[in-house]
Amino acid sequence: MTTALTTSPDAPGAGHPDGDFAVRLSHVHKTFGRPGTAAPVLDDINLTVAPGEFVTLLGASGCGKSTLLNLVAGLDRPTSGTIDVPGGRPALMFQDHALFPWLTAGKNIELALRLAGVAKADRQTEAERLLDLVRLGGSYKKRVHELSGGMRQRVALARSLAQGSQVLLMDEPFAALDAITRDVLHNEITRIWAEKQLAVLFVTHNVREAVRLAQRVVLLSSRPGRIAREWRIDLPQPRRIESAGVADLSIEITEELRGEIRRHVQH
Ligand SMILES: Nc1ncnc2c1ncn2[C@@H]1O[C@H](COP(=O)(O)OP(=O)(O)O)[C@@H](O)[C@H]1O
Ligand SMILES: [Mg+2]
Repeated sequence: MTTALTTSPDAPGAGHPDGDFAVRLSHVHKTFGRPGTAAPVLDDINLTVAPGEFVTLLGASGCGKSTLLNLVAGLDRPTSGTIDVPGGRPALMFQDHALFPWLTAGKNIELALRLAGVAKADRQTEAERLLDLVRLGGSYKKRVHELSGGMRQRVALARSLAQGSQVLLMDEPFAALDAITRDVLHNEITRIWAEKQLAVLFVTHNVREAVRLAQRVVLLSSRPGRIAREWRIDLPQPRRIESAGVADLSIEITEELRGEIRRHVQH
């Protein structure tokens, strides 16, 4: 087994040279601590996300979802196996917006633009364009404390997009929001995904959210995290979280998830 991590930190948004995948994990294992002393968190994960595909990774708390996303983001290395992200470093968005409170919304985004190598003269226009994209036009000068939770996540999304990557990794980004705000942001992320043709790997423990958003739902088992099952979701977009199609499939997937949790508790 190899331990190579081929995520290239130097080529944000450089496209997909071989065209057929945006993210590929092959035989990925992850164990924290010394090998042999701790149980593996991730066990033989094989997962491919196509360019422009929206995949949700669903699993119980503690099953290794964030660990997997952090590996794809290049923040940590697999114990063994390979991770390929041919388009360069993916953008990452967390539950916590992690905006700098002393900077305005616009300046938070400009900071990301600077790191992405955008020329100083272009940054303000580009930040305003990104704020428009997340429907926060006119909020350039607002500070973080002046923004609601949903607006902060919109700025965080704009900042992630500022990186110019075609791959967006999202770790329970709407989990702390109320249901109505979350519903609005589901519509926004679906719109932006289609508009920008992003490959999205979205982590959640919320079954309905997983079905509402994705073209494919991948269920992760617990201890060790393994891919238990996956579903292709052919319901037309935009979907409603309360629609019958989403509800029916959510019931089926919840049953599977319950089975995974029961299996884990018995061991
Ligand atoms: N840096 C770390 N060191 C040791 N254990 C970790 C570390 N990060 C995560 N873990 C463990 O790995 C397991 C999976 O965690 P995580 O990926 O955060 O789960 P999830 O995001 O699905 O809730 C947990 O048991 C957690 O305690
Ligand atoms: Mg997590």
